[in-house]
Amino acid sequence: MSKPRVCFVCLGNICRSPTAEGVFRHLLAEAGLTDAIVVDSAGTAAYHVGESPDRRSTATARKRGIVLEGAARRFEKGDFARFDYVVAMDASNERNLHQLAPDDEAEAKIHLLRDFDPESPTGAEVPDPYYGGADGFETVVDICIAGCTGLLAHIRDQHGV
Ligand code: 4NP
Repeated sequence: MSKPRVCFVCLGNICRSPTAEGVFRHLLAEAGLTDAIVVDSAGTAAYHVGESPDRRSTATARKRGIVLEGAARRFEKGDFARFDYVVAMDASNERNLHQLAPDDEAEAKIHLLRDFDPESPTGAEVPDPYYGGADGFETVVDICIAGCTGLLAHIRDQHGV
């Protein structure tokens, strides 16, 4: 069976989805599964294409030993064929992805990150920290750890990883 492939998606691909990607990679490394699952992130908007993750996200994650890397890119229709799990941070990202999805198979790949966290109510979002203070960035890391832990458990269970 081929490796499961995960793409985290937010609006700008500089705050939330790179954080989720970094957290997920960190969890994979801790579990000795770095090469078992393909991980990426993207944004539904093109404003920040080519930029590194936001310094506030990078600094907040680094305090927890989590490294954020990569250059922002826009999620494109063809990504639905390249990934098994397309994981949105909020309901707006989720709506944008549904609008872009070419068929039912693509629609079925779209999930909300927090729906993998058993402690979160259905439909809970990762709040956009971009225009807020430092607390928002801390909250994003906490939420991403909880959601990514649940997502990894789900994938391990579903794919026998
Ligand atoms: P992200 O945060 O979607 O978590 O990367 C944002 C980044 C940029 C903007 C909004 C949210 N912006 O409006 O430029």
